[in-house]
Amino acid sequence: MTLSTTDHEQVVFCHDRTSGLRAIIGIHDTRLGPALGGTRFHPYASTDEALQDVLRLSRGMSYKNAMAGLPLGGGKAVIIGDPARDKTPELLRAYGRFVESLGGRYVTACDVGTYVADMDVVAEETRWATGRSESRGGAGDSSVLTALGVFQGQRAAAQHLWGDPSLGGRTVGIAGVGKVGRILAGHLLADGARVVVTDVNSAAIDALRAEHPEVEVVSDVTALTGSALDIYAPCALGGALDDETVERLTAKVVCGAANNQLVTEGPGGTAERLRSRGITYAPDFLVNAGGVIQVHDELLGFDFARAMAQTEGIYEHTLEVLTTADAQDVTPATAADRIAEARMAAGGPGTWLPGDR
Ligand SMILES: NC(=O)c1ccc[n+]([C@@H]2O[C@H](COP(=O)([O-])OP(=O)(O)OC[C@H]3O[C@@H](n4cnc5c(N)ncnc54)[C@H](O)[C@@H]3O)[C@@H](O)[C@H]2O)c1
Repeated sequence: MTLSTTDHEQVVFCHDRTSGLRAIIGIHDTRLGPALGGTRFHPYASTDEALQDVLRLSRGMSYKNAMAGLPLGGGKAVIIGDPARDKTPELLRAYGRFVESLGGRYVTACDVGTYVADMDVVAEETRWATGRSESRGGAGDSSVLTALGVFQGQRAAAQHLWGDPSLGGRTVGIAGVGKVGRILAGHLLADGARVVVTDVNSAAIDALRAEHPEVEVVSDVTALTGSALDIYAPCALGGALDDETVERLTAKVVCGAANNQLVTEGPGGTAERLRSRGITYAPDFLVNAGGVIQVHDELLGFDFARAMAQTEGIYEHTLEVLTTADAQDVTPATAADRIAEARMAAGGPGTWLPGDR
């Protein structure tokens, strides 16, 4: 992707001499509304690497927000630097001033390397920061709604495949029981599922077992994906579905929170491999949208019940995607992309500008 060939609306390079801030804000598409997406703080090896990442991530947010039915476009920002060494209140405040200078065309949130406490500092300089702490009028941790959305996606996949949304009696494997995976396990157990998990961090397993002693634990992701599962839920890192994993999988459904699960996209890619093995894939950006639904609600003055009701809509969205995929004889990933693109096109040709509603 290069600046001359990409379809992004606006890419802003930010440099603050006093704090040393170097950041890039990517606004991909605002036909549906202001561009919302998090700020990634990462020690990129080069400006070009940072640019590639922000172009890719901001485009992904356009699809995610459109698929979630939100009146938002897609954007993302990257701050170039080592968060452990370079993150200072001065730098975050300088970043907040750049966000403010865009007049609401870009709304930020947390991402890898930025946390609720950082958004509180960014918000000292801009009205357009979400993901703030509850004491500052924010919605706090988004894992609760992210886990609920993934659970709804799994119920929808069960309805589509087995004619019943209940997960009672099904075996679900969760790779990664951090903030999202742990809450997801609770929903599944309450619905009567058998839950098998793995995590590289024994403290995460211990915390889960303390709450839910009935959860079964296996040694690693290879053991989990090779065991007898109905549903596999990747809830750790991206790139969860490499070719070996797809070949090994016994599960009939893949539906989890991790971002960017498909290692290769497009024709002959991971989504097609899953389909040819008869595995139903619920696209990650569709089912993990609970977090973005939460930060959108924060813009309206956070109401947990309202955000929860909207997150429960992921059940219907997932059914729509799986039904469309069957009808069009394409993978669910392609069906989801088409639905999101149609929604963006229906937003008209317009660019969202400050003052627009
Ligand atoms: N938290 C949110 O609201 C949210 C929203 C959208 C998407 N996501 C995505 O969902 C995933 C989980 O998010 P989280 O907030 O729970 O993160 P987290 O860091 O709290 O939990 C991830 C867990 O995965 C474990 N893990 C890492 N590598 C592993 C491996 N190879 N095998 C097994 N376990 C491994 C970690 O030890 C950790 O316990 C991430 O990919 C994240 O990007 C999260």
